Amino acid sequence: MTKTKEKFMDEETTRRRRILVIGTGAAGVLAGLGASVPFISSMAPSAKARAAGAPVEVELTGLEPGMMITVEWRGKPVWVLHRTPSMLASLPEIISKVQDPSSQVPMQPKYAMNEHRSIKAKYLVLVGICTHLGCSPSQKLEIGGAAGMGDDWKGGFFCPCHGSKFDLAGRVYKGVPAPVNLEVPPHMYLSEDSLLIGEEKKA
Ligand code: FES
Repeated sequence: MTKTKEKFMDEETTRRRRILVIGTGAAGVLAGLGASVPFISSMAPSAKARAAGAPVEVELTGLEPGMMITVEWRGKPVWVLHRTPSMLASLPEIISKVQDPSSQVPMQPKYAMNEHRSIKAKYLVLVGICTHLGCSPSQKLEIGGAAGMGDDWKGGFFCPCHGSKFDLAGRVYKGVPAPVNLEVPPHMYLSEDSLLIGEEKKA
């Protein structure tokens, strides 16, 4: 490898923090949707890169359907959920129950202003901070009574601080304190299964 190429790769490693999702080992923990979801920290980010709010690269090959991880970006928790077909099918069923079903309030980049609030329908990318007063909502991903949210629950997130509820696209329910949907951070795909949080494609 030439010196120039080595230098470039070192700089890239510093600029982006890279996270691998380990499928087989993590699946048992992560697939238990009622269990707490681990907060995955980056692989040795430099203090300088961290301070600058470096983008975070996440390899998604191990993130199986139904699994969710939490990564840190700019000091915030960012959720990455691999939605199953049944999770996606639940979204149009609750349009009448959410405040902003078509994402008119700009809580997402334009490329995520669609019915699933994401670039790829199967992957949801959200900042995991409640839009009421900033608590961290809990994952209530199961559909139906198993989540403890009632038999008609379609899966989503529940903020225990004041009772706000969000669906599996981060859309806020009507009649709760949170005023708007959860935020979708800037992101883009570097390849089929490689996600970059904190940067987006230039127009
Ligand atoms: S901070 Fe989430 S409901 Fe108040």
